[in-house]
Amino acid sequence: MPKARAIEQIIEPDFVIEGAGVLLRRSFGPTRANRHDPFLLFDHFAFNDPIEGPIVGFPMHPHRGIETVTYMLEGNTRHRDSLGNMGVIGPGDVQWMTSGRGIMHEEMPKRGPNGRVDGFQLWVNLPAAQKMSPPRYQEVKESQIPRVNHEGASVRIVAGAFAGERGPVTEIAASPLYMDVTLEPGAEFTHEVPEGHTVMAYLFEGKALMGEPHEEDEPVAAVRMVTFVSGDRFKARALDDSPARFMFIAGEPFHEPIVPYGPFVMNTEDEIRQALADLRSGRFVDQNALQTP
Ligand code: CO
Repeated sequence: MPKARAIEQIIEPDFVIEGAGVLLRRSFGPTRANRHDPFLLFDHFAFNDPIEGPIVGFPMHPHRGIETVTYMLEGNTRHRDSLGNMGVIGPGDVQWMTSGRGIMHEEMPKRGPNGRVDGFQLWVNLPAAQKMSPPRYQEVKESQIPRVNHEGASVRIVAGAFAGERGPVTEIAASPLYMDVTLEPGAEFTHEVPEGHTVMAYLFEGKALMGEPHEEDEPVAAVRMVTFVSGDRFKARALDDSPARFMFIAGEPFHEPIVPYGPFVMNTEDEIRQALADLRSGRFVDQNALQTP
């Protein structure tokens, strides 16, 4: 009997300071328990006071064994990396970075015209067989991300498919769904998801009944990360008197042990030691691909 997913947990994101003093809200970070497999971390950087000084950002740092996904709502993030890439992730753009065996990069958020920066960073794990693969970027501009309007739901599709449209990010090991969903008051969004996949929704505007709603269910109010128990579809409905907006996130777990260490997530402690040794000896990034910006 098919069943919609019920809420497993409602997470109130913690305020944390990362990089060179960036205030953000973290729903979860990498742990050995790997509770959200294949997802490792979800950060929302939107809570910096516009009247404060410049945002210092995330100066040069390494990554190995993961994918980092940056999705901007307002303001932009300037980035450059050890492969010689540089550019700006602007409002509505996404950068899906597969670090593979190693990348060094810098990410510097800049305020938009109204003084605000608003965006998300999601970390997705790589399976053991791909942790030492060559790094890869999928940079997608705002105009290349399809928006589908369907029965009161307006859905921007970064990865996966909805109502016959497919998102531009492809060939990701975790088979992710990643969508920015805006619901008119009273509108509903449903999406089929394979039983064993992990499903979550980051509600950042408004109020919604999440999961399989029952008469007595309390609506969830922004800002919350909501995780779901197993089932074959995801369902959310905005309240009759409130719109709602959330990131819909789903993916296939790898069921592998993980050892997180700062910006690295590997499968064993030896592999973490190797990453640190490679960093010290200058063998961390592929020297052939190294260019000075
Ligand atoms: Co980074």
